[in-house]
Amino acid sequence: MAVETAETIETLRAARQQMSGSVGLVPTMGALHEGHLALVQQARSENDHVIATIFVNPTQFNDAADFAAYPHDLAHDLELFERGGVDLVFAPMPDVMYPSGYQTYVTVEQMTQPLEGAHRPGHFRGVTTVVAKLFNLTQPHRAYFGQKDAQQVAVIQRMVDDMNFPLAVVVCPTVREPDGLAMSSRNRNLTRAQRQAAPVLYQALMAAQAAYQRGERSSKILRRLMRDVLAQEPLADVDYVSVADARSLEELTQLTDQPVLVSLAVRIGQTRLIDNVLLPAQSYA
Ligand code: PAJ
Repeated sequence: MAVETAETIETLRAARQQMSGSVGLVPTMGALHEGHLALVQQARSENDHVIATIFVNPTQFNDAADFAAYPHDLAHDLELFERGGVDLVFAPMPDVMYPSGYQTYVTVEQMTQPLEGAHRPGHFRGVTTVVAKLFNLTQPHRAYFGQKDAQQVAVIQRMVDDMNFPLAVVVCPTVREPDGLAMSSRNRNLTRAQRQAAPVLYQALMAAQAAYQRGERSSKILRRLMRDVLAQEPLADVDYVSVADARSLEELTQLTDQPVLVSLAVRIGQTRLIDNVLLPAQSYA
């Protein structure tokens, strides 16, 4: 039997009301991969029910070409969610989430300014708005997000605290390909040559991590090391490399004992990839 799906607010709410016990929510934009499925698996293990959502959220795309190029594969996604043990998939059309006359947005302020926020104006306003709506619609006890999108996790945690959403944000580790490339729906837009170049993001992060583990505490040197690695890959065009406080996301000059987020964004052809590591390794923001 196919996984239960809802495309309207009414069917979603009706299906949610049938659920007793705890509910885990896994929001996605579809084009699923092992990273998404790891979130489902963790949600499955910690809740009585799992609701997943598939919605390519137009308000978080600052670039129309990026939105148009975003991969879609609904039938396959439903199959993967079913196999992963999802109870209910919410897959609305844009006008269900944003009917005509829509005009309410949720904005997290300072933390959305640097990093992705600086390169993607309006992006986080779209993310926090759609995630707040999904929280209201699905009333989860726990919501699962990937460390792959480190700033997104930090911003959503801030929103949950500030808006008193009665749920726990659960952060899951980044799932990678064997060569280190972080899994991403965008990876399928890479040509063969670009795909071969893409692990340079992870190599740059590992160079910074290795230096940190040898005792290096100058963020300037860590950033320089990452840029040197990226410069060796002709297909890589750097948007930013950052060494920031893992909680505030403020750029650091000298590292202390506080957790540090080392992150970068790199264009490979038309495809923009992001990745990060937390230092010390395994520390969580
Ligand atoms: P999307 O990019 O589809 O990602 C959905 C979730 O999967 C996010 O929490 C993301 O961090 C996580 N994820 C993606 N790649 C991962 C990987 N390699 N390892 C672990 N987790 C990974 O992020 C979004 O969608 C949207 O912004 C959304 C939160 C759904 C709001 O529209």
